[in-house]
Amino acid sequence: MKKIVLANFKSNKSVTNIQLWFEKFLKNVDSTVFEKLDVSVAPSYVSLVGAEKLVDDSGKNVTLSVQDISSFPAGSYTGAISGQNLNGLKVKYVIVGHSERRKYFEETSKDVALKVTQGLQNGMTPVICVDTEYLDEQLGLIDKEELEKCVVAYEPISAIGTGKSADVGSVREVAERIKRIAGNIPVIYGGSVDEFNINEYLIVADGVLPSTSSLDPDQFIRVLESVS
Ligand code: PGA
Repeated sequence: MKKIVLANFKSNKSVTNIQLWFEKFLKNVDSTVFEKLDVSVAPSYVSLVGAEKLVDDSGKNVTLSVQDISSFPAGSYTGAISGQNLNGLKVKYVIVGHSERRKYFEETSKDVALKVTQGLQNGMTPVICVDTEYLDEQLGLIDKEELEKCVVAYEPISAIGTGKSADVGSVREVAERIKRIAGNIPVIYGGSVDEFNINEYLIVADGVLPSTSSLDPDQFIRVLESVS
């Protein structure tokens, strides 16, 4: 199986800047990176349609993902982006339960379990973010059959956006723990991943979830091209 590299832009960049990012990235990235890596990019929702056109026109094997989804189905939920809203776009992964969603939007493990259902019902693969304190609670709330179709991202809060990436041995241990609970599903690591440390994490995990190092297209290309 290819290793996953899922770039999360968070709330960064204007529509124009995201368009420029894709133009530069798609023009300069070497197609051979996609032979060994499953590369997906999660820009803001408002850039998805434009990005999809650029990706399709480029013929490069990169997919698009989203950073969140409503826990509710389609209906009277003003302002929410439902799974149905995304039908018609080719969205591969939906990130759910990122620690920033928990911290700033008071999202609970129950909300995240509902988002998993919405993502799966609408053809996306949920990437469930966990840290060790609530890993058991979170995975325990997800239906076993649904969990088998997900990816889990181990994201220690201390490593996110700090430049202090987690100890590789601890990532190995947590990945093994997650697989004991969830079965042999992909487990990826996120937290200050860059071109200098990505190879270490790809030995112990099935992929990575970078944010800071993906925001500049040249740097993101270096991250991808440094994979051995
Ligand atoms: P970072 O963010 O790469 O900037 O540490 C990772 C994340 O929040 O998923």
